Amino acid sequence: MTFTKDLAALRLRVLAALEETTDLASVQAWERATLGAKGELTGLLRGLGRLSAEERPEAGRAANALKVELTEAYTGREYAMAAADLDHRLATDAIDVTLPGRVPEVGSLHPITEMIEELSEIFALMGFQTVYGPEVETAHYNFDQLNIPSDHPARDVWDTFVVEGDTEVVLRTHTSPMQARVMESSEPPVRVVVPGRCYRFEAQDASHEWAFHQLEGLAVDERITMADLKGVLREMARQLFGGDRKIRFRCDFFPFVEPGVDFSVDCSVCGGKGCRVCKFTGWLEMGGAGMVHPRVLEAAGYDAQRYTGFAFGLGIERMIMMRHGVNDVRAFAGNDLRFLRQFAGGV
Ligand code: FA5
Repeated sequence: MTFTKDLAALRLRVLAALEETTDLASVQAWERATLGAKGELTGLLRGLGRLSAEERPEAGRAANALKVELTEAYTGREYAMAAADLDHRLATDAIDVTLPGRVPEVGSLHPITEMIEELSEIFALMGFQTVYGPEVETAHYNFDQLNIPSDHPARDVWDTFVVEGDTEVVLRTHTSPMQARVMESSEPPVRVVVPGRCYRFEAQDASHEWAFHQLEGLAVDERITMADLKGVLREMARQLFGGDRKIRFRCDFFPFVEPGVDFSVDCSVCGGKGCRVCKFTGWLEMGGAGMVHPRVLEAAGYDAQRYTGFAFGLGIERMIMMRHGVNDVRAFAGNDLRFLRQFAGGV
C-alpha cells in the first residue's frame, strides 16, 4: 500500500527537518511547508480520494494520526524556540534597572538676580514700585541733576567710565540718576526702588568690582522725615536678616542728600557681639542714604517748600556677602559654578 508507505517516509523526513530548525522563523517556515495549505502533508492527503473504498478508512486514520502528531511536534518546537528566543532577547536587550538615572542639569537664577527679586518684594510690601533705568547715562542725570556740577570735586570720586569721545555720556556710576528721571516724569507721592548695574573705573580688589549692582530707593511726599527713612530701612533689614534688627546712621557726605548718612545694620550672625562676618565691629555697612537735597527736588521741578523725601543706595553684592560671609566680591562675576551652585534655590 503505497499511500501508507508515503506517509511513513514523509513522517521520517519532516520530523528530521523539524529537528534541524534553529530558530522561530525556521520552525514557522517548516509549518507552512508541511502543514500549510500548500504543504506536503496537505498534498498527500489530497491523494486519499484516489484510493479504493476499502483502503480509504485505514489510510484516512493513519493520515489524521500523522497530522495530529506533526501538529503537536510543531507546537512543541515552536514553544521551545519562542522560549529560547525570549531568553536570548532578555539576555542581550537587558536594561539594568539598578543603574542610577541621569540627573538633568537644571540651572538656577544668579544670586544677584535672586537678591534683587527678594529686595523688590520686600519693598513692594512697603508700597515701593520697582523701576529700571539706563546703564549708559548722560552726565546730566548722573551728576548735574544730583547737585554735582562739572566743577565740583565730588565728581572725581566716582571714577567714571566715559563713553568714547563724549564726556557727556557715561556708564552710570550709581543708580541715583534714576531719582531725577523718576521725579521728572511723575508727581509726588513717589515711592520707587531701582535695582541695576553700575560701573566705576577702579582697581579691582576683594570689595571693589568695576561692574557691580546697587538698589536705589526714593520716597517723596509731604512731611517725609528721617524717621520714615529709618523705619523703612529697619523693616528691610528685619525681613532680610530676621529678628529685631537695629539700624545705625553715621554722618556721611553725598551732594544729593542733606543730611547724608552711611547706614549699618547690627550683625545678625553674632547679634552685635562681633564676628568674622562683621569684621568684629558688630555692624554691617549697607550703603549711603539721607534726605533728598532741596536742590535735587527743585532741579526735577518739585516744590521743595512743600515736599521732602529720603533716598538710599545699597550695594547688592555687599548684601549677599554679608548674609553668607562671602569674602571676595569678584566671585560673583567669576563664573565658577562651584561658587554659584551654593546659591541654587535662593540667596
Ligand atoms: C553711592 O553710590 C550713592 N549713590 C548712594 C546713595 C544713594 C547715597 C542715595 C545717598 C542717597 P557709594 O559710592 O557709597 O554711594 O556706593 C553705595 C554702595 O555701593 C556701597 O556701600 C557699596 O556697597 C557699593 N559699591 C560701591 N562701589 C562699589 C564697587 N566698586 N564694587 C562693589 N560695590 C560697590
